[in-house]
Amino acid sequence: MAKDSKGLGDRANRHDRFHQKAKKEGFLARAVYKLSEIDDKHDLFRPGMRVLDLGCSPGSWLQYARSQVGITGQLVGLDRNAQAGGTSGARVHVGDVLTVDVKLLLGDLTQFDVVLSDMAPDTSGIRSQDQARSEALFERALEIAQLTLAPGGNFVGKLFMGPDFKKLTEQVRALFTSAKTQKPDSSRPQSIEQYVIGKGFKKQASGEIK
Ligand SMILES: C[S@@+](CC[C@H](N)C(=O)[O-])C[C@H]1O[C@@H](n2cnc3c(N)ncnc32)[C@H](O)[C@@H]1O
Repeated sequence: MAKDSKGLGDRANRHDRFHQKAKKEGFLARAVYKLSEIDDKHDLFRPGMRVLDLGCSPGSWLQYARSQVGITGQLVGLDRNAQAGGTSGARVHVGDVLTVDVKLLLGDLTQFDVVLSDMAPDTSGIRSQDQARSEALFERALEIAQLTLAPGGNFVGKLFMGPDFKKLTEQVRALFTSAKTQKPDSSRPQSIEQYVIGKGFKKQASGEIK
């Protein structure tokens, strides 16, 4: 991206109404409103749930998840960047989702009740390349969900619209009782991101952790 247009983008971002709202309400990112909209529609959380958040930095989804699962809930986050966590009391790991050891994410837990992924690749501006990278992150998030979700568990994954969008949503449909897609109002209109929501994980016999 050219320097000037990035500058304009940053300025627009700072003046964005969701950015201002997040700042006022003490959330670490405007992304919090995407998860809250998805949750309003799909009712993902219960008190005491165990939640894994992939690509959790700077930490607004963890803050939101804490508000829903309460102090008895357990939150685990992963991000390549170290700044995540905030006030959520989560156990946060720094690492790459593509190489992370799933056992490390589980720690003392046996399973998660919800697996979230808001992971986005560093965009190159080349649409096909960005779509392919987003698909790879989504596929890995879904793989981790398959390995770690409790029966009946829920999944939310960010996915850029692209050639494999239908194929990947069909994969979610096969693994969960219901599968839906949502583009929250707080997602920027120009963004090609969508969220795929799977509810009611159908545990398979082969879900062994390697
Ligand atoms: C849009 S941000 C997430 C915002 C977060 N949901 C929040 O509410 O604060 C996307 C995150 O995905 C992370 N990410 C992208 N690729 C990753 C990878 N391969 N492994 C781990 N994290 C990754 C980025 O570092 C970035 O922090």
